Amino acid sequence: MSVARLTTYNFRNLSSVAIDLHPKLNFFVGDNGSGKSSLLEAIFFLGHGKSFRTSKVEHLACYETDNFVVSIKDVNDLQLGLSKNLQTGVTLIKINGERHARLSELAKNIAVQIVTPESFKLFFGGPKERRRFVELGMFHVKHDSSKQWREFNRVLKQRNACLRQNLNKETLNYWTSLFCQLSEEVAEVRAHYINSLISELPYWLEILLPSIADKVTVQYLQGWPQKKPLIDALQDSHERELAFGYSIYGAHKFDVKFLIAKQALESQLSRGQQKLFLLALTFAQAKLIARVKRVKPILLIDDIGAELDANSRESLSRALSILDCQVVITAIEEGVLQPFINDTCVNDIESSNKTKYHMFHVKHGGILPVNNSVKIE
Ligand SMILES: Nc1ncnc2c1ncn2[C@@H]1O[C@H](COP(=O)(O)OP(=O)(O)O)[C@@H](O)[C@H]1O
Ligand SMILES: [Mg+2]
Repeated sequence: MSVARLTTYNFRNLSSVAIDLHPKLNFFVGDNGSGKSSLLEAIFFLGHGKSFRTSKVEHLACYETDNFVVSIKDVNDLQLGLSKNLQTGVTLIKINGERHARLSELAKNIAVQIVTPESFKLFFGGPKERRRFVELGMFHVKHDSSKQWREFNRVLKQRNACLRQNLNKETLNYWTSLFCQLSEEVAEVRAHYINSLISELPYWLEILLPSIADKVTVQYLQGWPQKKPLIDALQDSHERELAFGYSIYGAHKFDVKFLIAKQALESQLSRGQQKLFLLALTFAQAKLIARVKRVKPILLIDDIGAELDANSRESLSRALSILDCQVVITAIEEGVLQPFINDTCVNDIESSNKTKYHMFHVKHGGILPVNNSVKIE
């Protein structure tokens, strides 16, 4: 999907926004605190049912209000809406006006990836963010495995409960056996997915970070010692598991490591280069999502000027022009957008209104289209 119209009501400082997006390139320019990240957060919220910067949903409602709404309409008139009432705690999920119970129903229709100035610190800072990244890609690319993943998580919960309550051996053995079987299955599908990601990555690195493109190696860690059956690893660590009260090995503990000359990539690259690397990886994943043709990926880039010099922005604009994807970019200064609005970099074949991009100014939570980029009817 690509978003044709976005509306928000009482979302952060965006009390009432209704804007028409370009199918390819969208720019939001405004001072600090104007509402740029909030706008990306609203789109992200629809795709994920949560924010990328807070785990507390009540932070998302405009101060002194207790109900907020985000909705979008795509180019084929598909409508997705998500609203939250903080007083009743009710989350309303709507697809074409019909109520749905599961967020995953909504998420199936929209694949949103984001890169913020903090992303690379989180991504290289610990496995949690790397897992999230891969899980999003798998959700869209290997959608058939979603059921298996849900089942795995159900069994993991049961097994953890057994460990926490130190239940009898028979019950634990029952769940352990199921857990091992599902872990092996999930790990296999995931290995397949990560292999496709690894194959796609060099193409984007060649554009964004050519100096290291052929030096990167990627390691997939399945979640337990590579050369041991999971059941043996669990048996060997039985006492520790009981002490912790949860499963210390299994498919949920997977990780992906990036290396240059056998050293952690993040210890070798500058902050700007780490950001470019993460962008390349995000582009690779977007490409895989686009290739399965279920949904068209949407890419959000917050504060594009942060950490990226003019050459890097040129490379990024080249990469964006190749990727078939809707992009929403924010910037504090319009000047940093120059490479992206350069004619030669923009593929406008898909553009419905013959403009090459839409540009907006954001001020105090209000969003105004800039005239020369968008036809106002
Ligand atoms: N729940 C909320 N209700 C109203 N305003 C909020 C809420 N949360 C944050 N804000 C304010 O919204 C403004 C916009 O924040 P943000 O989108 O992060 O700005 P930008 O990314 O443009 O720098 C900030 O001034 C912030 O204080
Ligand atoms: Mg911001």
